[in-house]
Amino acid sequence: MSKLAALGGKPIRTEPYPEWPVHDERDVEAVTRVIKSGNWGGYPYPGPETAAFLKEFLDMQGGEYAVACANGTVTMEIALRAAGIGWGDEVIVPAYTFQATAAAPMAAGAIPVIVDIDPATYCLDPQAVEAAITDRTRAVIPVHLGAQMADMDAVIDIAARHDLAVVEDCAHAHGARWRGRGAGTIGHFGSFSLQSSKIVTAGEGGVLICRTADLAQRAASIANCGRSHAPGGGPEGGYRFTMGGNYRMTELQAALGRVGLERFPEQARQREEMADYADEALSEVPGVRVLRRDPRHTTRSFYRYILATDPETFGLEHDAICYALEAEGIPCWLGYEAMNHYDLFQPGLSRLPVPSAFPERFRFDQMHFPKAEQACEREAVWLDESVFRAGRQGVDSAVAALLKIYDQRQELAAQVDQLRASLSA
Ligand SMILES: Cc1ncc(COP(=O)(O)O)c(C=O)c1O
Repeated sequence: MSKLAALGGKPIRTEPYPEWPVHDERDVEAVTRVIKSGNWGGYPYPGPETAAFLKEFLDMQGGEYAVACANGTVTMEIALRAAGIGWGDEVIVPAYTFQATAAAPMAAGAIPVIVDIDPATYCLDPQAVEAAITDRTRAVIPVHLGAQMADMDAVIDIAARHDLAVVEDCAHAHGARWRGRGAGTIGHFGSFSLQSSKIVTAGEGGVLICRTADLAQRAASIANCGRSHAPGGGPEGGYRFTMGGNYRMTELQAALGRVGLERFPEQARQREEMADYADEALSEVPGVRVLRRDPRHTTRSFYRYILATDPETFGLEHDAICYALEAEGIPCWLGYEAMNHYDLFQPGLSRLPVPSAFPERFRFDQMHFPKAEQACEREAVWLDESVFRAGRQGVDSAVAALLKIYDQRQELAAQVDQLRASLSA
């Protein structure tokens, strides 16, 4: 076997993986159609493309009501505000997620209460949720991370007992199903991102699935500058404004999203098939732990496939493994930092003011989430979705690269300090 590519050898794979986003003439035609219509923006809401996109999105994901928004961050803020959550209320979020999950409650005026994860799945730990509930807790945001889904049975049970709103962060989970029900249709709200790396994309954009017509009307109103979306609202029924902002998606985005939805089922099918294959193949690699697939997670449609590498078996931290994998031609990523370590949540770095009320809730730098920190800072390797759209060979290359790194772990460990120094130079 050749030397590791990170150490000057030949890479396992030179053939590129399929590109993302996928595009063809249909996208050009969709954008052209909207440009020619003269109706480019998101007002009046919903325009014809937006209404059609929302219907097609619900046909794919399930659920009855949805609101189109500017991105998958404001969707969560809008959901919380539509549920009446605001100043001083506490919203439970997992320690392993993108910063938006914790920033959205803050934007709504609420306090994000971070809880640790289940190391078997990397999603929020229901026991930690239960332990974090206070008399101010009003909502929980389970995140379906990577190729996983949070334990929605446990989350719904806790929420029902404590009268909490459930906002599912489905930024990674378009098409995923739990006991046959679409992610985002199990809680009160399901928040989806259409940002350019996401598996249904419009460049930017967001969809908020709402459990009831009433919640959807409130959410639409908040997203549409406070204009009423209740029956009888609008010009004839008279406007009844609520406090809102302009969080609308544009018709151009909706048109692109519609083409993305046409392609989506086949892409999702390929990824799911190859993820099943990868689970088995990766289990054979020493020092690699495949995250537990919950049997209730009936359709695994996903954004990234996260695996756990064991720093002791490899004698390497995940950053070295990721670096070596990239060099072997495998697109991968270290993933998010633990929420308490995000720069954005360090008061000294982000100018986040520590409010005089509940200051302890905002001293993120003094918090500890050992399981999330272990996952985020030592173990996790996120394989790109494209690895799963390149047939068995795509997965075989990733497995071969991991085996190669395992075989040459000592040589790599010997060079790690030098590599880190050259990377930071
Ligand atoms: C888990 C998670 N939640 C929320 C978001 C926010 O979505 P957006 O970028 O559309 O605001 C993202 C991704 O960007 C995400 O990965």
